Amino acid sequence: MAVQPTTQDAQGEQARNAAVEAALGKLGLDAKARLLGGQDMWSLPALPEIGLKSLVMSDGPVGVRGVRWTADDPSVALPSPTALAATWDPELARRAGRLLAQEARRKDVHVLLAPTVNLHRSPLGGRHFECYSEDPFLTGEIGTGYVRGVQDGGVGTTVKHFVANDAETDRFTVDNIITPRPLRELYLAPFEAIVKNAHPWGIMAAYNQVNGVTMTEHRYLQNEVLRGEWGFDGYIVSDWMAARSTRGDIEGGLDVAMPGPVTVYGEALAGAVRAGEVDEAVLDEAVRNVLRLAARVGLLEGAPAVVSELPETVDGHALAREVARRAFVLVRNQVRDGRPVLPIDASKIRKLALVGASARDARVLGGGSATVFPERVVAPLDGLAAALPAGTLTYAVGADPSDELGPADKGFELRAVCRDATGHVIGSRSLPGGQVQWIGNDLPDGVTHETLRTVEVKGTFTPRESGEHAFGTRGIGAFTLTVGGEVLYDGVQPMSDASDPFEAFFGAPAERGRARLTEGEPVEVSLVHAVDKADAAPLPAVMFSFLHGAPQRDADELIAEAVEAARDADTAVVVVATTESVESEGFDRTDLRLPGRQDDLVRAVAAVNPNTVVIVNSGSPVEMPWRDDVAAVLLGWFPGQEGGAALADVLLGAEEPGGRLPTTWPVSFADVPVTDVAPQDGELHYAEGLFIGYRAWDKAGATPAYAFGHGLGYTTWEYESLEVTPAAAKVRVRNTGSRTGREVVQVYVAPQSDSAERPVRWLAGFAGVEAGPGESAEVEITIPRRAFEIWDEQDNSWSLVPGSYEVRAGRSIADSRLGATLDVQA
Ligand code: BGC
Repeated sequence: MAVQPTTQDAQGEQARNAAVEAALGKLGLDAKARLLGGQDMWSLPALPEIGLKSLVMSDGPVGVRGVRWTADDPSVALPSPTALAATWDPELARRAGRLLAQEARRKDVHVLLAPTVNLHRSPLGGRHFECYSEDPFLTGEIGTGYVRGVQDGGVGTTVKHFVANDAETDRFTVDNIITPRPLRELYLAPFEAIVKNAHPWGIMAAYNQVNGVTMTEHRYLQNEVLRGEWGFDGYIVSDWMAARSTRGDIEGGLDVAMPGPVTVYGEALAGAVRAGEVDEAVLDEAVRNVLRLAARVGLLEGAPAVVSELPETVDGHALAREVARRAFVLVRNQVRDGRPVLPIDASKIRKLALVGASARDARVLGGGSATVFPERVVAPLDGLAAALPAGTLTYAVGADPSDELGPADKGFELRAVCRDATGHVIGSRSLPGGQVQWIGNDLPDGVTHETLRTVEVKGTFTPRESGEHAFGTRGIGAFTLTVGGEVLYDGVQPMSDASDPFEAFFGAPAERGRARLTEGEPVEVSLVHAVDKADAAPLPAVMFSFLHGAPQRDADELIAEAVEAARDADTAVVVVATTESVESEGFDRTDLRLPGRQDDLVRAVAAVNPNTVVIVNSGSPVEMPWRDDVAAVLLGWFPGQEGGAALADVLLGAEEPGGRLPTTWPVSFADVPVTDVAPQDGELHYAEGLFIGYRAWDKAGATPAYAFGHGLGYTTWEYESLEVTPAAAKVRVRNTGSRTGREVVQVYVAPQSDSAERPVRWLAGFAGVEAGPGESAEVEITIPRRAFEIWDEQDNSWSLVPGSYEVRAGRSIADSRLGATLDVQA
């Protein structure tokens, strides 16, 4: 439903437009061209001559990182986008957005580089965790809530990545070949819904091409569809380093090229105008869009910001916990001895065995640009220890999903010390996590890129375990690594030839040596990095990490220990997880297996304890070959910084797990309908057309492990009545269980006979409803006209398909409770 601007909004818009025109009139060609290119990694230049302050952008989407990439500048970390979508609650997404606006203001950020609304075309997509759903309607609804929330707080959003950045392989060059119907009905649909319903102030153009044209240069999609047809009036910014052609980009509708200072805009753009290659009016239009954005967020003198009164302050920790529990999807909850295994009755429990590496070191968010650094992380072990009576909880690692090195965080106290060419100390900074990621001007006080020659990461490490610890580096250039006075490595890591500039830039993690250490006994550590001045990076940056790996113990022994702990417990809770090298930005997955020996671990624990509950800590689907042999399975996603507290709430029954699947979970990789994510000769054909996600499962007549929309709570529901009109479904449900609960009522439509090639059925609407035990509640769910429309490829327009449709209301796509027939007229 489109939001109608109020009179006040309209007046403000007029005042902003007038200020924008006045400012534009005062700018010369060079200043205008300069405004369209980044001045550094995250910002645009200020233009004091027109009263314009510098506009700062930041990632997104689970928090606001700010301009510094460091644990020293923490941010609230909400659950990942798949989790937010699993709440099926646009209002909750809106509250999340308001918190993010508050975070952005705290960090002097004006525009958030989020939400990510590409689709779950294939579960192999590396950034699957960062997108919402396989369904365009659900994606659009959650994205709309999110954008409204952020902008309620006066901070801009940048809906990304426009369009079809649905996988990562060769993302800078891949040409995604998509016919008009799937392009419109699937991939563009969430962008269209968000533009029309939430009026975002920004869009990010993707790296990839669509049908032969690079997205930053895509005049048809950017200028004709996005701006022309949908009325988008914000700015379009390139994904980082996506803009590659001065003329192609500006004429294709791209307003801003990021990052800077070297871009295809700025001087190059002014030159192109002077040479008569680009019309100045085209550049003026882009400047207008940027000035309008600046005016909206309050950076242009004389223009009223859109939001003058901020929404109420949000408690970030409480909201992160609420979203996490509302996102957890309980996919299985066996009844044993007459009652469901979950929730666990804490007053009756004698021993609970918690198992799994990620139960102690939780993976709370996905990798890549979505990374933020929370001030604290509540792991499942912390959450359950706080909630259970003392002496009830035992913990065993069980199986480590990863033998890779990670950031030097637990047990490390580190500082970065900067020296010049004479070895003189010119500055230093504390360095939690051992990751130096200084981009542009973000350097310790007193340090400049010109004077800086070496950075030493030094401090102490107090091991949590005795044994052989591994140490390593990530980054390009010369390193000397010393532990306890012994030089473990002294050498040079050359630049890789990866096609993704970010991968080449960050480098792969490398083990450099090992040291035998004793639990609790601190040792001195040091990693000296010589800053490479010949760095091929597009902007000055110092990027490297000090890595650590805990002693690797024999996997069978670890599993045996966990089995012993589980045998002795009333309930065993096993947390399994993916790792950073499985789900992150810049690459796709190759299978859906849990890494390491985690499947063996679950089987072994389940064999000795019938009350085994498995928590899956992943952003996207994984195979769970043991799922029918365990008592309960809870999908916990990347749950954000308060995940462990929310998990305790849900396991012990203080709260109900509220999530429903935003994407289908397959039994095995072999059943996955779309697995083609790697281009051939530069092209990736979306050959499946309209059939992704449940649309494909239905077409194949196949049954997944858990269907789209599935999720159990702690009460039961009866669907009592359904009344339908072409515009709405009215559904009455009754809570037939013994505790208050929240149901997500889902409405699907299924054409009865089809002239157009369409899926068997699709999601047309949904709503959350709460009721106490025995109570009934009624919801009216709007069915948008679009639910009955297809994109007519001949006419290039939407066209309603009249006829008879079955409207079904139920608990998931596979669990339909009531149906009614609807005759839809043209
Ligand atoms: C990602 C974007 C992100 C940008 C800035 C890119 O690599 O694709 O999503 O906003 O970097 O960090």
